Amino acid sequence: MKKVALLGGSFDPIHQGHIAMAREALRQIGADEVWFIPTYQTPLKDRILTSDTHRTEMIRLAIESEPRFRLETIELERKEKSYTIDTLRELKEKYPDIRFYYLIGSDQMEQFDKWRDVDELMQLAEFVGIERENTFGSNPCHLRCMNMEQVPVSSSKVRKGDCLQYVDEKVLDYIYKNRLYVLDFVRSRVHERRFLHSCSVADLCELFALENGYDPDKAYLTGLFHDVAKELDPRQMKAWMKKIAPEYMDAHPAIFHGFVGGQVVRSVFRLDDPQISNAIHWHVLGLSADPYAMMVYCADKLDPTRGYDSSGLIEQCKKDIYKGFELTKAQNDKYITEKENK
Ligand SMILES: [Fe+2]
Ligand SMILES: [Fe+2]
Repeated sequence: MKKVALLGGSFDPIHQGHIAMAREALRQIGADEVWFIPTYQTPLKDRILTSDTHRTEMIRLAIESEPRFRLETIELERKEKSYTIDTLRELKEKYPDIRFYYLIGSDQMEQFDKWRDVDELMQLAEFVGIERENTFGSNPCHLRCMNMEQVPVSSSKVRKGDCLQYVDEKVLDYIYKNRLYVLDFVRSRVHERRFLHSCSVADLCELFALENGYDPDKAYLTGLFHDVAKELDPRQMKAWMKKIAPEYMDAHPAIFHGFVGGQVVRSVFRLDDPQISNAIHWHVLGLSADPYAMMVYCADKLDPTRGYDSSGLIEQCKKDIYKGFELTKAQNDKYITEKENK
């Protein structure tokens, strides 16, 4: 009899913790396949899930290289909250010759006796509790247990831009391409005012890119992340600076966040694009002639939320970013000189 392990979840987004669980199911249960079952958005859930299309696409990307993994959209198609019993009844009817295993977390295992139609559930599938290494929770229904090493990641961490090293590269590309979670990546690292400034700079960068014939997505991300290192702890900032731009160590600390931000997008946010890193690196000083660096420099200085009328220069940047940059840079250099001479 073919053995299939079922793994349900929001998968918002899928990460290597899920994949590790599925691999262990192949190994420890001897399953022939693992089916990933994304849950439908329920009105009761306190958080609105990312759309079904995005979540399923990310699952597809994460499992495409493993032929024994499959996406099963049965719960999404039902278009209402599914209880496990509904899903298992339907699957068993459709595939009477498959022996199903249903993977649950150790916290669910502890409550398992309270699940709806628990006796029937246990007839339809063998439930397997996943336990972290060396932890033994209560197991009222004496379920089979699968012990595995914990991968230190969760979807909620990923949604805040943490632990991104545990997200498949193709999934991460998809996240950036579709701008999923990216606002929270920034929001969780800066104060509200700076977050709003970052969003405004991102929009302006996108506009400049569209008008000048550059990649609007790349420009948007450059703008969004440009100040992401600004509120780093000063000691941490100095440590980064020593490695990245030691020649600027004696400069005013207010300029450090540009250099550090350029590295942070690469190593923390895993946005592996040299033009984005370079643009953020130079956004304070405006010393790079790369178009993305010019766009973010101008958008940062001309951000309408700064409270002065910058519409003339914005129009100039839309027409020609090279000319717009020249004028914006000259105006800013003049402003700094005047300030220093006061
Ligand atoms: Fe900045
Ligand atoms: Fe800024």
